[in-house]
Amino acid sequence: MRSAWSTEILLSVDRAALATLRGQLEHQLRAAIDGGRLQAGVVLPSSRELAAQLGLSRGVVVEAYEQLAAEGYLVSRRGSGTRVGRRPPAVRQSAGDHRLHAPAYAFDFKPGLPDLTLFPRRAWAACLQHAAARAAAPQLDYPDARGDETARRVLAHYLARARAAQAEASNLVLCSGYTQGLDLAARVFAERGVRRVAVEEPCFSGLWQSLQRLGLQTIHLAVDEDGLAVQQLERGAAQAVVVAPAHQFPTGAVLAPQRRTALVEWARRSGGWIVEDDYDAEFRYDREPMPALQGLAPDRVLYIGTASKILAPALRLGWMLTPPALTAAVAAMKQRVDRGAPAIEQRALARFVEGGALDRHLRAARPVYRRRHDTLLAALARSCIGGGVRGVAAGLHVMVELPRTTDEATVVHEAARRGVRVFGASAFWRDSTAAAPALVLGFGAIAESRIADGIARLADAVEQARGAGRRPLGVEQRRRETV
Ligand SMILES: Cc1ncc(COP(=O)(O)O)c(C=O)c1O
Repeated sequence: MRSAWSTEILLSVDRAALATLRGQLEHQLRAAIDGGRLQAGVVLPSSRELAAQLGLSRGVVVEAYEQLAAEGYLVSRRGSGTRVGRRPPAVRQSAGDHRLHAPAYAFDFKPGLPDLTLFPRRAWAACLQHAAARAAAPQLDYPDARGDETARRVLAHYLARARAAQAEASNLVLCSGYTQGLDLAARVFAERGVRRVAVEEPCFSGLWQSLQRLGLQTIHLAVDEDGLAVQQLERGAAQAVVVAPAHQFPTGAVLAPQRRTALVEWARRSGGWIVEDDYDAEFRYDREPMPALQGLAPDRVLYIGTASKILAPALRLGWMLTPPALTAAVAAMKQRVDRGAPAIEQRALARFVEGGALDRHLRAARPVYRRRHDTLLAALARSCIGGGVRGVAAGLHVMVELPRTTDEATVVHEAARRGVRVFGASAFWRDSTAAAPALVLGFGAIAESRIADGIARLADAVEQARGAGRRPLGVEQRRRETV
């Protein structure tokens, strides 16, 4: 690692890191400016000086300075050098704010993220403003633990209309994203004597660990192209199951109709509970979205939806439809955990949905994601990456199988060296040794124009990894990111 004191901040670059050198430099300068360590007007070292201090080629520093100037962080003038810009850029620069928290990659295929630059700021701000300005004094008291009454009514109507759910406002509970919804469900299950919960293998990171932390035993059931292997449920004597029927994560499988029926039959026969993770079903590419499973068995399915994919994770808004027999327990748990979700945001969401802004946003976002989806599939088909592409029907990611002999971690590492962020699928398995080598590629947050180049570089990385065979990587290179 080379580092240097320059203009009172320590800048450093790490050649072994996953991020590009330019990305590291940009990231550190943005953070220093946003954090106030570099104040407006401060003159930065010339590109030549900084390059020499850090042992970089001058071109890397010039490109980083140019990028930051384009974002308003820096101002470059001939003769007076490069200075920190006058106005705080975070206000003007919305598109890349999330990069402040993550190393920058030239091509970022992180799954699980929508395009945050599409967030309908103006409409959302108007709804928030309206909700804050119009809330009557009693509405500023602690809310009903299930959530604001208007928000529950509007969301129940939306879920009935858009997801074919059997939704009653009385059984709807607002929560802080899917993450909290699952946590509440698991706590209620544990209270009621549930000990064994089946989960999909592979599945969304952290899912089974969070169940285990609550003292529940997890049973890991296989997933194939028809989704969860429902027939295995009996064998493990599961009392509840967590499943993403509309678009399994990360395989992208859609639960086949006969398995949906079998799953509901299992729940009825055994008295088991089904937790339905409906995180990104609104984005479907080959036909209308699959209706929610909850619509088939509202007495056995605890449905959880989230604003994280359709709007933005930062909202931390989610909603649960609870079987009537569980509603009081879930509401009591919500009361105990945090006394209810923030009511102004709930009312803003209600206005956003009821006024048609959510439908408008989805109508605008779907074609953008569809183009990225099609561009990604075309680029993968042209590339020599090899294996099949799974889970293409819906959502914001696909799973790409790698040739059996390729080492997944080496591909991820080689891709990062080429400025491409991809995620190995094995991170989503409890038993990663059982995972065939594969990548999970998100296309939600990468511009359409960058996809083909990103995939060409990825193909190069796969080629390199094949050549390298199964050479073991160092600990740092094997570090796995989670979604
Ligand atoms: C499969 C799956 N479910 C749910 C979520 C959303 O969680 P939350 O609503 O807590 O943001 C994610 C986020 O990445 C996910 O991948």
